[in-house]
Amino acid sequence: MYEDLIITTPDEHIYSEHTYDTVDVRNESSSNSLKIPVKRKTKRRVIMLLVVIVIVALTTVFTALLIIKEKMSNTNDTTYDQQTTSPFPRGITKTQINDTDKSGVNCKTGWITSSGLRSCYLFSNDDDATDWNGAQSECLKLGGSLTDVETNMELNFLNYQVLIRFGHDYWIGGTDNGTEDRFRWEPSEQPFNVTYWGPGEPNNLGNIEHCVDYRQLKWNDAPCDIKVKYICEIKV
Ligand SMILES: *[C@@H]1O[C@H](CO)[C@@H](O)[C@H](O)[C@H]1NC(C)=O
Ligand SMILES: *[C@@H]1O[C@H](CO)[C@@H](O)[C@H](O)[C@H]1NC(C)=O
Ligand SMILES: *[C@@H]1O[C@H](CO)[C@@H](O)[C@H](O)[C@H]1NC(C)=O
Repeated sequence: MYEDLIITTPDEHIYSEHTYDTVDVRNESSSNSLKIPVKRKTKRRVIMLLVVIVIVALTTVFTALLIIKEKMSNTNDTTYDQQTTSPFPRGITKTQINDTDKSGVNCKTGWITSSGLRSCYLFSNDDDATDWNGAQSECLKLGGSLTDVETNMELNFLNYQVLIRFGHDYWIGGTDNGTEDRFRWEPSEQPFNVTYWGPGEPNNLGNIEHCVDYRQLKWNDAPCDIKVKYICEIKV
C-alpha cells in the first residue's frame, strides 16, 4: 500500500530527487557524508534516551504514588480491623445506609437524619472540639443534647456517619460520672439498652474515664476533659 502510494503520488518525483540528492552527497564528500548522519544519529539517540528516561521516571513516580495510596488505605483498614472486622457489625453494608434525609423528618440546615429515624443529628467540626461538658452545653444551646443511642438502627446510622468523617472521634451523651460502671444517657438519665464498646472497654483507665467517646467506630470511656468533636441530637 505504501509503495503504491509513493508511485501514484505527484510528490514522487520530488521524493525521488531528494533521495538521490542525499545519496549523491554521501558519495561526493566522504568526510561530510560520514559526519552528518552520525551527528544526526547521535542527536536522535540522545532524544530517544531522554524520552525513555522521562517515561521510566513518570512510570516510577506513578507506581510509587499508587503504592503509597494503597498502603495508606491499608493502614486505615487495619485500624478498623483492630476494632471490629466490619464497621457494620449488625449485618448492614455501607450501600444499605441512607446518609440523606429520606425519612420525612425535616432537619434544620446542617443537621442530618436517615430513613426510619425520628431525630436530627449534628456532627461538629474539627475546630469545635471541646470537653464533654462543653459539648453537652453546645448541644443544649442548639436545642438538642449530646446524642444517645437507643436502637440498632440509630447505632448503624451513627456508625456510618462517624466512619465517613475524618478523625472518627466524637463525644456522645453517655456517662457514668458519679455512678461508676452504670452508664446512662444525659440528660435523659436512661440506662443503655444498646452498647457498642470496643474490646476491653469500658475500663475506667486510671479511674478517670467517665464519658463515652465514639472513637474508631467503637465506644470508649474516656476522661471527660479531653477535647474531641461531638454529635448533637434533636428528637422530633
Ligand atoms: C433507605 O431508603 C430507602 C428509600 O427511602 C429505603 O427503601 C431503605 O429501606 C432505606 N435503607 C435503610 C438501611 O434504612
Ligand atoms: C431503649 O431505651 C429508650 C429509652 O432510653 C427507649 O425509648 C427505647 O424504646 C429502647 N429501645 C429498645 C430497643 O429497647
Ligand atoms: C461529674 O460529676 C461532678 C460532681 O457531680 C461534676 O462536678 C462534674 O461536672 C461531672 N462531670 C461531667 C463530665 O459530667
